Amino acid sequence: MTVEQQVIVVTGAGGGMGKAIIEEQLKQGNIVVALDLSVEPLKEIAHDSLQCFEVNVLHEERVHAICQQVFDNYGRIDGLVNALGVAQSATPIEQVTMDEWNRLMDVNVKSLFITTKAIVPFMKQQQKGSIITIASISAVRPRPGLQAYIASKGAAESFTRGLAIELASSQIRVNTIHPGPADTQMLGQFAALGADIEQTKQSVFVQSVPLGRLVMPSDIAGAVSYLLSDAASMVTGTTLHVDGGRGL
Ligand SMILES: NC(=O)c1ccc[n+]([C@@H]2O[C@H](COP(=O)([O-])OP(=O)(O)OC[C@H]3O[C@@H](n4cnc5c(N)ncnc54)[C@H](O)[C@@H]3O)[C@@H](O)[C@H]2O)c1
Repeated sequence: MTVEQQVIVVTGAGGGMGKAIIEEQLKQGNIVVALDLSVEPLKEIAHDSLQCFEVNVLHEERVHAICQQVFDNYGRIDGLVNALGVAQSATPIEQVTMDEWNRLMDVNVKSLFITTKAIVPFMKQQQKGSIITIASISAVRPRPGLQAYIASKGAAESFTRGLAIELASSQIRVNTIHPGPADTQMLGQFAALGADIEQTKQSVFVQSVPLGRLVMPSDIAGAVSYLLSDAASMVTGTTLHVDGGRGL
């Protein structure tokens, strides 16, 4: 490992955005540690600087053990990118079950507590770090029927702001990205059950973006690169909208 190389941990690594983030970080010469329920989609990347762990990020002990192992291997952890998440299909509140509510809160919020708590002690030792959470523009520009998902993404943004002020004295920056509707397999899952997914993508999602196209995973990877880099060394507690103007 060289002095310029950063060590970046990415959750949701096998997802549409996670994979693009990893490809971009590897291109920049960094070491990437990838966590996902399935790392199958990463097999085609197969890079010396990519280490994959198939793990449920809600398993706190396992996540702590992986982070300890990464720190023992490399002596540092420079970045954490929380890119995991689950969607909600548009459902009226009366029909949302407690299990569904808990699933969204666990994966989209509790996981952030677990990964951040595991990594912050190492970043504090280094007096340096950048933590990025992928939330959603829906937190501030909601759609009907997505109340639990929206609440989870609002919590993710508030958690980020809370940590930004708490960790600033340790030179750890904490930021949120709000993507607009993005071209990954998750997008179709926001459609109501039984709806035509391709038609919903065009008639609802593309139409809602002033710049006229879906967000691409590479758009998010670019924003993550910026927030991880020294170019953003005075940026903390902020939310970067990468949404083609959807939030306007
Ligand atoms: N796609 C969109 O339109 C869109 C829009 C706004 C925000 N987002 C957010 O962006 C982030 C990335 O979404 P994406 O579009 O890449 O979705 P995706 O479904 O392609 O990827 C999500 C990944 O998270 C992983 N994951 C889920 N639960 C996990 C767990 N408990 N442990 C480990 N891994 C787990 C999944 O296996 C999957 O690989 C999510 O937070 C999502 O809510 C997506």
